[in-house]
Amino acid sequence: MTRRHHGDIERFDEWSTTYDRGPGQHFFGRIHRPVVEAVCSGRVPPRRVVDLGCGTGRLLEALRPRVTEAELIGVDPAEGMIAVARTRFAAEPRVRLEVATADHLPLADASVDVATTTMSFHHWDHQDAALREVVRVLAPAGRLLLADVLGIGFFGRILRSTGRGHGIGYRDAAELTLLLRDAGFSAWRRRRLFWPGIPIYLVEAQRAPSPSVLRARPGEM
Ligand SMILES: C[S@@+](CC[C@H](N)C(=O)[O-])C[C@H]1O[C@@H](n2cnc3c(N)ncnc32)[C@H](O)[C@@H]1O
Repeated sequence: MTRRHHGDIERFDEWSTTYDRGPGQHFFGRIHRPVVEAVCSGRVPPRRVVDLGCGTGRLLEALRPRVTEAELIGVDPAEGMIAVARTRFAAEPRVRLEVATADHLPLADASVDVATTTMSFHHWDHQDAALREVVRVLAPAGRLLLADVLGIGFFGRILRSTGRGHGIGYRDAAELTLLLRDAGFSAWRRRRLFWPGIPIYLVEAQRAPSPSVLRARPGEM
């Protein structure tokens, strides 16, 4: 079920047919690579991975040769983006694509081992509801890998103050900590993907293995 609250989704819809030819794609590829490595770094290979705000499916394309047994699911509210992704994966039965926002995922409870999202989180209208939704669909001890601009450090604070018109703005560490904790993640950590300057981080958050562990070990950013 798609809900359209924000002009961003319409803009991505319009952009979808030329999106892959945009100048930012090379840069996005540099963000996708460490996310792919992090997906593959789990103790057991994932059986199901969902990419939230998958766009035209570039991250799923990079994942496909690395996680050869997993079902790969892409979710995006922009119908045009999903249409391009469907063309990309027309001959790939392992890839499923859905038009949906991150806060209303068409997935069963505890059905996903890893959720990824790259450069999309700052566009989500309902980040709190979306993170709760991610916890709902993650299997116990499942992981969220979230790569995005954060308002941390000198450049992060500048981007945070100047970038309010872009998406819903960039979160700082304290805000993201609260969002992850309140959503029900039990532990999380972050690392900067580029140095120096660009405040793009990869945040890895884990769903608790069981409800008792969640209460016992709250995480910190
Ligand atoms: C900058 S693009 C990034 C696309 C892709 N993740 C990549 O790395 O190339 C941001 C994407 O987030 C999607 N988006 C916007 N709001 C969303 C929401 N509430 N839930 C999920 N995705 C959303 C947009 O439609 C768009 O495709």
